[in-house]
Amino acid sequence: MLQYGLIPPSRFEDVIGHLRVNFPDEPLNAAVGLCFHGKPCPLLEHHDWKTLEDGLSVMVTDKDTGKIAGVALNGISRLGDTEKAIEELTAIENLQYRRIFGLLNDVNKELDLFSKYGIEKIFEIRILSVDSGYRGKGIAKELFIQSEIVARDNGFKLMKTDATSLFTQKVAESQGFHVEKSVNYHDYKDEIGNKIYDTQPPHLHYKVMAKLVQPCHG
Ligand code: ACO
Repeated sequence: MLQYGLIPPSRFEDVIGHLRVNFPDEPLNAAVGLCFHGKPCPLLEHHDWKTLEDGLSVMVTDKDTGKIAGVALNGISRLGDTEKAIEELTAIENLQYRRIFGLLNDVNKELDLFSKYGIEKIFEIRILSVDSGYRGKGIAKELFIQSEIVARDNGFKLMKTDATSLFTQKVAESQGFHVEKSVNYHDYKDEIGNKIYDTQPPHLHYKVMAKLVQPCHG
């Protein structure tokens, strides 16, 4: 039997272990090769850990064994964070990390959901991952449902996700998220015309998707 709950600090290491094995399948990572199955991935794991510390992340475990079947790492995005992240990225040498977060940061900066909705913080579903042995059973959808409960309980007005996978886009759409921005991965080319993000079908678009969970004022 599966059980859902917030991720306590005592499980943070186990979550990193789960992600090390399962998250490298994420389409953008698979295209640029930042993290590899079963190998430590310090830059992304630092990002994961900071997100876990926001205390809003959700996991699903096997009740009998405690094994992690899936996680939604949810973080708080505050006004000015994207600009700060763009600045911090200039000091990072890892090209793969720069390519992934450069794209996400630039799209989000241009979109500026803070101004659009007149808000100062956003509940962000940052990392969605289901153990390969548990996929295709609706777990990601349930992680979205549980995350929305956490967002509402904590007074957030807007939920958002950088849906880099078609599967996440389907889940988000089924939960009432709308597309704020869609970009075609294959439009990005380097100076000699090679694709920067050579993602594999069916993952051809990155979509920023959002859902208002409480009315916005101002
Ligand atoms: N082939 C075709 N469709 C699929 C597949 C597949 N292999 N896997 C899922 N789907 C579809 C489902 O049919 C469903 O769509 P539907 O409602 O129209 O039927 C939708 O995707 C979601 O299905 P779930 O069963 O809820 O998803 P699952 O529990 O398998 O988890 C996830 C999906 C999290 C993307 C998983 O495949 C995974 O961990 N992948 C590796 C990491 C990754 O890519 N994470 C998402 C990146 S975006 C982000 O993190 C915010």
